[in-house]
Amino acid sequence: MVSSLSSLSPRLLHVLGVQAPVLQSGMRGVAGPELVAAVCNAGGLGVLAALRLDPDQVRIAIRSVRELTDKPFGVNIWLHDDVRTSPDPEAIPDDVVQGAQSVLNELRPRFDLEPTLERPEAGADLVDSALEVMIEERIPVFSAGLGLPEASLVKRFHGVGTKVVSMVATIEDGLAAVENDVDVVVAQGTESGGHRSYGTKLAKQDVLGSSTLTLVPEMIDAVGASVPVVVAGGIVDGRGLAAMLALGADGVLLGTRFVATKESAAADIWKQRLTSGQRNTTLTDGFTGQWARVLQSEFTEHWDAANTEALPGLLQATAGADLFAAAKKQDDDQMQPLYAGAGARTMSGIPGAGQVVEQLVAEARTSLSRW
Ligand SMILES: Cc1cc2nc3c(=O)[nH]c(=O)nc-3n(C[C@H](O)[C@H](O)[C@H](O)COP(=O)(O)O)c2cc1C
Repeated sequence: MVSSLSSLSPRLLHVLGVQAPVLQSGMRGVAGPELVAAVCNAGGLGVLAALRLDPDQVRIAIRSVRELTDKPFGVNIWLHDDVRTSPDPEAIPDDVVQGAQSVLNELRPRFDLEPTLERPEAGADLVDSALEVMIEERIPVFSAGLGLPEASLVKRFHGVGTKVVSMVATIEDGLAAVENDVDVVVAQGTESGGHRSYGTKLAKQDVLGSSTLTLVPEMIDAVGASVPVVVAGGIVDGRGLAAMLALGADGVLLGTRFVATKESAAADIWKQRLTSGQRNTTLTDGFTGQWARVLQSEFTEHWDAANTEALPGLLQATAGADLFAAAKKQDDDQMQPLYAGAGARTMSGIPGAGQVVEQLVAEARTSLSRW
């Protein structure tokens, strides 16, 4: 258990009921009950990933966390327009489907997969049913990514005693989230691993956004008087935490660092690639259909060069599911999404998640005491 930095971020610790100003991101396929509980038991806020889980799976995961920790925890889901209501595959123009599938067809022979020009099947709309389960289960913290929680949803969560955290990438969204009465704003800089936190699909140049260093002071000036501001993007150690506290932020949220921990459900090859060797990152929509920062790979170069329109919502992930699953099965690090923030370049080792929280706080204390 860490001793807190409570003198520096008292309001965040008070709002979330945690001891360390460190949040772990909800991450599909990574942040299951073990990771969440390890972070919570070390004094941070662990956040469960609920994206694409059906209601029973969400309930089971929440109850599993409660078996592993008695500390506050969060549950995250995307509120993106095209994920909350999945696009109708039949409405996608033929040339868009065939364009995306043709690029994937160039890569399928690597795994002896049959080429196809078929439309992907429609996705299930699971977000609203997952939200209902979260409300029924009276989770301590709800974390909304890729889209703002509407005022009525925030009110429902508040009604059952749940705090609401909103992940945003722009000042406009930060202001709108506060207007909707959220309790904490997470400002996501462009260095962030995983998907850019926008509620609708925009052009690549419009989702690049600001760097963490420039976004954070502006976000604090815009909303910091109303709510605690947490920083996400490129933070992997206590130097980063100290720097963000020095900027006036209330805490940090880390994704990439927690992918490469013992309790993370990520594949070993992903953990290894995040902590050694070449770790340049790039933004692509070729894996899911939405813009995300990943490790550069043969796939990202191929998709970029093709300059093709990705399928909407998460239908790109459905279209490429055979390719990405085959790559995963064969530990092929060039053809599967290895989400990574720009901060991965300084990461090493695969520690326990609790150790990450403890080291962040200890290193931040050392950094701050030098002043
Ligand atoms: C593997 C991975 C999965 C992610 N999944 C989600 C998610 O499901 N929901 C969400 O709001 N953000 C998600 N994110 C983004 C994080 O919330 C956060 O913005 C980012 O991890 C912060 O930057 P960092 O990776 O440099 O720490 C994910 C990030 C990663 C690395």
